[in-house]
Amino acid sequence: MCGIVAYVGPKEAYPILINGLKRLEYRGYDSAGIALLNSSLNVYKAKGKVSDLEDIIKDTDLHGTIGIAHTRWATHGEPNQVNAHPHYSQSKEIALIHNGIIENYASLRKELESRGYVFESSTDTEVLTNLIEDIKINENVDLFEAVRIALNQVIGAYAIVVISRNDPDTLIAARKGSPLVIGIGTDDYYVASDATPIVEYTKNVVYLDDEEVAQIRRNNTLKIKTIRNHEKTPYVQQLELNLSALEKGGFEHFMLKEIYEQPHSIRDSMRGRLHADLGTVSLGGIIDYEQKLITAQRILVVACGTSWHAGLVGEYLIEDLARIPVEVEYASEFRYRNPVIYEHDVVIAISQSGETADTLAAIELAKSKGATILGICNVVGSSIARATHAGSYTHAGPEIGVASTKAFTAQVTLLTLLALRLAQLKGTLSKSRFLQILNELDRIPEKVEETLKTSEVVTRIATQFKDVRNFLYLGRGYNFPVALEGALKLKEISYIHAEGYPAAEMKHGPIALIDEEMPVVFIATNKGTYDKVVSNIQEVKARKGKVIAIVTKGDTIVKGMADYVIEIPETEEMLVPLLATIPLQKLSYHIAVMRGCNVDQPRNLAKSVTVE
Ligand code: F6R
Repeated sequence: MCGIVAYVGPKEAYPILINGLKRLEYRGYDSAGIALLNSSLNVYKAKGKVSDLEDIIKDTDLHGTIGIAHTRWATHGEPNQVNAHPHYSQSKEIALIHNGIIENYASLRKELESRGYVFESSTDTEVLTNLIEDIKINENVDLFEAVRIALNQVIGAYAIVVISRNDPDTLIAARKGSPLVIGIGTDDYYVASDATPIVEYTKNVVYLDDEEVAQIRRNNTLKIKTIRNHEKTPYVQQLELNLSALEKGGFEHFMLKEIYEQPHSIRDSMRGRLHADLGTVSLGGIIDYEQKLITAQRILVVACGTSWHAGLVGEYLIEDLARIPVEVEYASEFRYRNPVIYEHDVVIAISQSGETADTLAAIELAKSKGATILGICNVVGSSIARATHAGSYTHAGPEIGVASTKAFTAQVTLLTLLALRLAQLKGTLSKSRFLQILNELDRIPEKVEETLKTSEVVTRIATQFKDVRNFLYLGRGYNFPVALEGALKLKEISYIHAEGYPAAEMKHGPIALIDEEMPVVFIATNKGTYDKVVSNIQEVKARKGKVIAIVTKGDTIVKGMADYVIEIPETEEMLVPLLATIPLQKLSYHIAVMRGCNVDQPRNLAKSVTVE
């Protein structure tokens, strides 16, 4: 969602800020803005893309060595120039950028209006800007103190950066519930909502904690306080991010690059955990919680979107291999439906970004009931990773394409490792069966590599079906979550309506949709309920539906029935999701490209959904 970048130091700020905004484009946004401070404080904003902002300001004097910049994903007020950030305070002394939502903005605005403030925008952000100005004037305090006092009056989530015309050497930054990272250069500072705009300048960073305010001064001082006025010592960490991970590396889109990275990203999520030579699995991050997990009466999984689909694969895996009951919940439903949570429950929160607001809220709820919370996150140091008692990172590397691809397969890999580890501890699998699955998991990266070669048939299918209005995806058992994920991928990047169903549910409703126009994607690999799925394919063919089937290499039965088949290598039933997902990602990608869609930044979507 919204993105923040700010700079103070000896260099010209504009190139750093505009470059930073481009690095943040992947998060999803609908307007952009920048404030530069030289002899005056100037704010420039545009509806649309960062390139639109560049066009608007190309003939302006953009000189200045301190500034703040923002990409906005509209929450309060439509996406237009007025509502874009930065926002000036009434006197234009202060400018502020903000990620998050100020929940009590209406009452704060009313109070400020009664004191003569007039608002230009419909945003909660402008309210906070004027609140800071009001406190600064009435309490006669500096900007650092005014921000600190103001944030004590705020209910909601925020990551903010503030500058003042009267203090041209200082950035004030603060966070609660929305991430903010400070980069420490040799003689300068960078602030951003994630590390992507910072990594090319410095690897030394400080992650702000909730309710912390930082005063960042040009003369190399960084002071951090809590909003309750307790001084904190900045904890400097090293970024593990590499710049090459943020570039397209010769691919046309980030999504395609990330699809092709999967042999490596899956291997990276197994590295140091799967020891094929020793025949063991270890997950260091959760080692202290293994006993809790194997004695738990149930495991709850909370997640959203694609991560929820990974959770569903996890449910099948953990129940199948380790015989522990698992319930998978949409975090957004869980948090509001008064769920029964016991102290001995173990909750696993899954999130690529580690910033999803609903998942964070579900964690807080479960924590308040005394449950143990484990995280499976991709982004190191993210809010969810910090909010959980322990966890394991997926190590898929930065995912820039908005549609999740390599993060999903990394999550499934980690859940497979977890299920195997729990099975080993509980003794629910024989040694030989355990080793069989473990060795096959070890071979999965090579099989993913092989699966990625199925390009010709996928582009043929994409050409044939790129103009249809609907798609159906069907699978059973482990392949049901794959069907859901295939449908989600297609709808989010190509805007074709697609639904995923358990194949047997088809006759309870969706079968009514099937006619000669309807493409139906079956994940029909050769294990588990294969015969049943073959019957489901017959039902679709009998109604003249067009069948696209993902089959195991060498299949002849489905091949004889389907209009198109995509072959994937033979593997264990529980590992099929790691292979079958790949051609579905590619199919969505090619259809979206053929339809002229913005694959990496689909309309209305954001990479990290930091509001509910
Ligand atoms: C789909 C997609 C979303 C996310 C969802 C959760 O391609 O990316 O459905 O999976 O918003 O995000 P995380 O995993 O960051 O919590």
